[in-house]
Amino acid sequence: MSIEKLTVFDFRNLSSDPVEFNDSINFIIGDNGSGKSSLLEAIFYLGHGKSFRTSQVENLVTHNKTKFVVSAKDTNALQLGVAKDFQTGITEIKIAGEKHRQLSQLAKNIAVQVITPESFKLFFGGPKQRRRFIDLGLFHVKQSFSDAWKEFSRIIKQRNACLRNKVDHQTLNYWTDVFCESSVKVARLRDEYIKELSLELRPWLELMLPSLADDISISYMQGWNSKKSLGDVLAQNREREVKSGFSLYGAQKFDVKFLTGNVVIDNQLSRGQQKLFLLALTFAQAKLIEKVKRVKPILLIDDVGAELDLNSRTLLNNAINKLNCQVIITAIDKTAVEPLVPTDNNYKMFHVKHGQISAIGK
Ligand SMILES: Nc1ncnc2c1ncn2[C@@H]1O[C@H](COP(=O)(O)OP(=O)(O)OP(=O)(O)O)[C@@H](O)[C@H]1O
Ligand SMILES: [Mg+2]
Repeated sequence: MSIEKLTVFDFRNLSSDPVEFNDSINFIIGDNGSGKSSLLEAIFYLGHGKSFRTSQVENLVTHNKTKFVVSAKDTNALQLGVAKDFQTGITEIKIAGEKHRQLSQLAKNIAVQVITPESFKLFFGGPKQRRRFIDLGLFHVKQSFSDAWKEFSRIIKQRNACLRNKVDHQTLNYWTDVFCESSVKVARLRDEYIKELSLELRPWLELMLPSLADDISISYMQGWNSKKSLGDVLAQNREREVKSGFSLYGAQKFDVKFLTGNVVIDNQLSRGQQKLFLLALTFAQAKLIEKVKRVKPILLIDDVGAELDLNSRTLLNNAINKLNCQVIITAIDKTAVEPLVPTDNNYKMFHVKHGQISAIGK
């Protein structure tokens, strides 16, 4: 979907008249602290029912207010809204006039992806963000992943409780067998997905990192030695696991490495190149989601000027033109987005000041 009209009440510092977006490219310009990231956060919240900046939802409501609302109308007139009332504790979701209570309903209708300077740092900093990135794609692209993951989460809790409570061998063996089966199922889905993602990534790398595209690859680590069965690995490590009180191997421990040749790219590529890589990866994921879900993803790029020089922004521009999705890009000043302004004039530019968003004439 593309957002045609967005309404935000009392979310962070935002209190603005409805914003009417272009269905292709939108630029949001504003000073530090004006509300650019908050606007992207509001859109992300509508897509995921959570923030990309905080796990504490009470941080999102405007100080001294008790309820925030984010709602959008898409280009097919589908109305989507979420409201969180902190006095009653009630979260209300409305999709096409129907009320829902579960935030997960939101992700069925809208696929939002975000890249911020912070997520970029985290992405290369440790496995948590990478796991989240891959599993977000999996959730949208592999229909059976959501159930497989829910089942896995339930089983690992049980097995960890067994390890912690030092239960008898028979009970631990039972949960270990179930855990292995479930891990293998999840790991297989991830493996399939990463293969698809690798294929989809090629053309985006050729556009954004042409001189490196041939050398870049994704290496998937499933969470245990791939030359051995998980059952054998766990049998060999039983004492260690009982001592630590939780599962040390399995699908929860997966990671992906991005390589140029044999070297991980964070040790080899410049920061700007790393950012282009992450953008290429996000574009590839967005395209896969579009193919499978037939829902056009919405791409949010916060502070595009950070890390990217003029040449890199021109390369990014080529890719955005090919992407054919709604893109919302923020920057501190207009000059930062100049290389991204499409020549066909099909875009909109907005200015944010003290949480007020207004369209700027071209
Ligand atoms: N719950 C809240 N209620 C009211 N204001 C808030 C709340 N949370 C954050 N703010 C304020 O909202 C403003 C906008 O923050 P935001 O992060 O969106 O700015 P930004 O335009 O992205 O700035 P930067 O260019 O520095 O990234 C900040 O001044 C911040 O202090
Ligand atoms: Mg910001």
